[in-house]
Amino acid sequence: MKKLAELYRGKAKTVYTTDNPDLLILEFRNDTSAFDGLRIEQLERKGMVNNKFNYFIMTKLHDAGIPTQVEALLSDNEVIVKKLEMVPVECVVRNRAAGSLVKRLGIEEGKILNPPTFELFLKNDALHDPMVNDSHCKTFGWVTDEQLAKMKKLSYKINTVLSKLFDKAGFILVDYKLEFGLSNGEITLGDEFSPDGCRLWEKDTLKKMDKDRFRQGLGGVIEAYEEVAKRIGVQL
Ligand code: TMP
Repeated sequence: MKKLAELYRGKAKTVYTTDNPDLLILEFRNDTSAFDGLRIEQLERKGMVNNKFNYFIMTKLHDAGIPTQVEALLSDNEVIVKKLEMVPVECVVRNRAAGSLVKRLGIEEGKILNPPTFELFLKNDALHDPMVNDSHCKTFGWVTDEQLAKMKKLSYKINTVLSKLFDKAGFILVDYKLEFGLSNGEITLGDEFSPDGCRLWEKDTLKKMDKDRFRQGLGGVIEAYEEVAKRIGVQL
């Protein structure tokens, strides 16, 4: 596998083309971003931890029947993935109230959400990822009704698999963001699943173990990611 040109540089990952037109390389960098790129800092080991964390979770999801982009781990901070045509809408599932839901609706942080909510956000930093709905998706041609229904179904299936996985390791999966794309017309899970894009609280103490430690200046960001990784069984 040969790395060719840089295709896209995101806030935390860089995407490279390869000598196989169907495959890309995702490089996980140490850059850590909050507030839509307003604050970016380098956190030692983050690229490696998130790459291995993501590979572990994506493998579990694949084994549970979820179509994912991941092909193979390439190095400490790189993974080989299938090229997807990305849907520009992010899917957020919430099991407990936190973050923007608390601010937007005045719900008490930590409230159990039953059934879990499913929300859509447009991927657009300049507009601060505004919340959108299925009607917007259809009118603006971001994704068809049928594809969106599949994304919602997969998002909830992922919730069942991952809530159990984290619960067994002593954590509450509070919420998470997913990004999907199309591979040969099939809705496929892309991007990453790591503590950068989800909220995880330690069950016994409700200690935040995710990127909220960075957003809120709590310190010990990577130490928390590593602790979660260790307890779910990721080999770092
Ligand atoms: P929120 O509470 O800020 O809406 O975020 C909900 C979850 O989705 C939280 O785990 C963080 C994650 N998320 C991202 O990773 N990137 C994003 O751009 C957004 C909007 C949310």
